[in-house]
Amino acid sequence: MISYKELGLVNTKEMFAKAVKGGYAIPAFNFNNMEQLQAIVKSAVATKSPVILQVSKGARQYANATLLRYMAQGAVEYAKELGCEKPEIVLHLDHGDTFETCKSCIDSGFSSVMIDGSHLPYEENIALTRKVVEYAHQFDVTVEGELGVLAGVEDEVSAEHHTYTNPEEVIDFATRTGCDSLAISIGTSHGAYKFTPEQCTIDPQTGRMVPPPLAFDVLKAVEEKLPGFPIVLHGSSSVPQEEVETINKYGGALKAAIGIPEEWLREAAKSAVCKINIDSDSRLAMTAAVRKVFVEKPAEFDPRKYLGPARDNMEKMYTHKIINVLGSDNKLEC
Ligand code: G3H
Ligand code: 13P
Ligand code: ZN
Repeated sequence: MISYKELGLVNTKEMFAKAVKGGYAIPAFNFNNMEQLQAIVKSAVATKSPVILQVSKGARQYANATLLRYMAQGAVEYAKELGCEKPEIVLHLDHGDTFETCKSCIDSGFSSVMIDGSHLPYEENIALTRKVVEYAHQFDVTVEGELGVLAGVEDEVSAEHHTYTNPEEVIDFATRTGCDSLAISIGTSHGAYKFTPEQCTIDPQTGRMVPPPLAFDVLKAVEEKLPGFPIVLHGSSSVPQEEVETINKYGGALKAAIGIPEEWLREAAKSAVCKINIDSDSRLAMTAAVRKVFVEKPAEFDPRKYLGPARDNMEKMYTHKIINVLGSDNKLEC
């Protein structure tokens, strides 16, 4: 058993309490590799922002669970080396699907886990979430639960349509599970194809596609039922059209990739939403930069020459999110 405290990581408790009070959201960035991690840490330190490093089940399989955990420990040391004496870094399991996966993460140094029982019948979701909470809280590890189903793919589980969170269930769910935060479904979804063009309208000024509105009424009703309780938004990439255009310009084939407008996320961050999950935007930033180098410098074969620009592009994106969307900058003393 390795405690996250030995690795210099923190759980989400205080971080979320401050974020809810302060009207901002903590960035939860997924990572699978060193370049993403370097970019996340550099932007968090440069902006003095707390940050959540998210690891999915797929990431654990891809990069190796042990290696990822030590990379998170390395992230803390790297942040200190970059000049932040007291970084606030959470290592979080994204979309944990079983008690065993959550336990394995808790036992190996994660400071926070998500148990995603959103696809289960209500009572089963409660029972599973409660079981994870009982185990996690013994070690001061915080737990995110989920109520409501997001459309799209969540690791191996996929749903064609959203089922918005039912605000009538949230008090019962939070009380009976004892979870520390709650992911809700208000119309966001995972991946780069969140809406079809048919669902969108065209903004006459920019010519860009505007998705159908998120269910902010559901968010408001949840907040009224659970005042001050930390709420999480998954599927919150904005799918920057510049990155999509760059990818397509340099040989990619992304058709009608549409995300969540940043101004909507800015609005959400001011509410009880205190954790905003972003993965796809990092994938797009990385792919755009790599494709550009491959086309412009076809003779290049040193990975540092294309992963370096990819890292720089991701850092720019993370910094932009922290400052201009989530508002989590200047929250650390370092
Ligand atoms: O919620 C999904 C995250 O973007 C993780 O994706 O399971 O492909 O690593 P992944
Ligand atoms: P995006 O696919 O919108 O980046 O969402 C990521 C996410 O919710 C990870 O849990
Ligand atoms: Zn998610």
